[in-house]
Amino acid sequence: MAASSAPVSPNAGDVLPAAHKNKAAVKMLLQRRSTLAKNMTEPGPSRDELETLLTIGGRTPDHGKLFPWRFIVFQGEARSRFSQRLEARFKDIEPEAPPERLALERTRFERAPAVIAVISDVTENHKIPLWEQELSAGAVCQNLLIGANAMGYGAQWLTEWYTYDRVIKSELGLGSGERVAGFIYVGTASEDPVERPRKAPRVSHWS
Ligand SMILES: Cc1cc2nc3c(=O)[nH]c(=O)nc-3n(C[C@H](O)[C@H](O)[C@H](O)COP(=O)(O)O)c2cc1C
Repeated sequence: MAASSAPVSPNAGDVLPAAHKNKAAVKMLLQRRSTLAKNMTEPGPSRDELETLLTIGGRTPDHGKLFPWRFIVFQGEARSRFSQRLEARFKDIEPEAPPERLALERTRFERAPAVIAVISDVTENHKIPLWEQELSAGAVCQNLLIGANAMGYGAQWLTEWYTYDRVIKSELGLGSGERVAGFIYVGTASEDPVERPRKAPRVSHWS
């Protein structure tokens, strides 16, 4: 099969284009900027778009074909149900929390139409170092951000307090060896993002 006619949903063994110039993609990456979750609104990705986005996430390099990650998707009512759990847990941790803070927790996942939890699922004592398995989960997060942007949605990679909370991890059903790499919030930007300060990449050339 000619690479130029390669399928968009390739199967193992299909020939794919090594690369092709895509000025629009380069420009998009040069201008890539997170959309803050608080600046997200409806609509979110449709069922088909979400499937495409997760497929993009699943096409991330991983050493050893371990696929050391999985996804948990929050949409619709599930977002408010999970946010209620966040509020309840936050009340336990901080009984003196002011009502505004509890209101934030109660609606946290409703900031975006869709939230994708990227779960790092590593295999310990494997010849592939844990570090590489974990890096792959981070790369999945970035692919989701770029994929969402390419589909016309704003996206933000957040961890916040609940990523590291023992009780919330158990509510998410995380097994041993599993950790949240990030919650990827996806939605329509209610306003255009503004560039933030950035340092020039630190580069040296080996000689
Ligand atoms: C692993 C990871 C976790 C992050 N968690 C948070 C977070 O909890 N809260 C937050 O405000 N930003 C967090 N950020 C930063 C934002 O997602 C985003 O990168 C930042 O606002 C800069 O935006 P940019 O993507 O336009 O460079 C996190 C970034 C990474 C890579």
